[in-house]
Amino acid sequence: MGVTDKDADKTTTGNGRFLPYRVCDTRRGSHSIPGWWSEKSKVTKTAQGSPPPRGRAYPCNTRGRADALNWDLLNDGIGNPKNTRSLLLSHVTPPAMITAVRNRAETAVRAGSRHIQFAVRPEKDAVAIDEYLKLLKPVPSPYLVKGRLSKAAKRGRKIFKKAGCARCHPSPLYTDMNKYNVETGKGMEKNLAFDTPTLVEVWRTVPYLHDGRAATMKEVLTKHNSGDKHGVTSNLTENEIGDLAEFVLSQ
Ligand code: HEC
Repeated sequence: MGVTDKDADKTTTGNGRFLPYRVCDTRRGSHSIPGWWSEKSKVTKTAQGSPPPRGRAYPCNTRGRADALNWDLLNDGIGNPKNTRSLLLSHVTPPAMITAVRNRAETAVRAGSRHIQFAVRPEKDAVAIDEYLKLLKPVPSPYLVKGRLSKAAKRGRKIFKKAGCARCHPSPLYTDMNKYNVETGKGMEKNLAFDTPTLVEVWRTVPYLHDGRAATMKEVLTKHNSGDKHGVTSNLTENEIGDLAEFVLSQ
């Protein structure tokens, strides 16, 4: 997908809808993210028409995260665009890539130069990229209240266990580093297993799922999990879904 500065104002989700809020990205690469690109700030900005609250205006081009866009790259064939993944924790949560094709992030960094950028780079560049990415630290979620889980998130923590989420997303990294078919694959990727992503900092990487089809956390848990293949959520009340989403977004 070709992207220009202008397009960055309208970010498409997997199903082609445009999300109506501005990306304040300087677009120096697909892994730079507007810091307040999150469900929380989206609500703050568009529904209430005011900027993020004091102390929550994160920098626009925090590097190493995601640009919220889908990219249809040649390395896994054409016609199956993937939502950019944050590179946070990628070196401690192998395998790498959405389809887990690289055994570890170091391999993915080198393969990315070759197969995505079509470049031949000296090994020292790859080592420098590895070192940089290893230095990235998670930013505390704006869903925390004075650094702690809110009441709703505490209730959500129990549901996270009850619904079976913790099996594949165990703390502290919230990934068991395996891949699963949670029935999110479509078309040529039907029945494909995807790498279990870490949920750390997931509050800032909307849209969700490998093709960005879920515009909100609640959508991950409802609209896109009709068969309960991705945790058992169909028996949860609306309030419980809200609490579970609050907990996940607090990581
Ligand atoms: C069987 C293992 C498994 C279980 C159980 C599971 N997940 Fe996942 N989770 C995955 C996999 C695999 C993906 C990637 C799917 C995709 O991208 O299409 C994923 C993706 C996600 C994402 C999207 C993250 C992103 O950055 O796009 C969220 C959020 C999530 N899971 C939360 C949950 C919650 C909450 C539960 C419990 C209701 C749960 N998961 C249960 C394996 C699992």
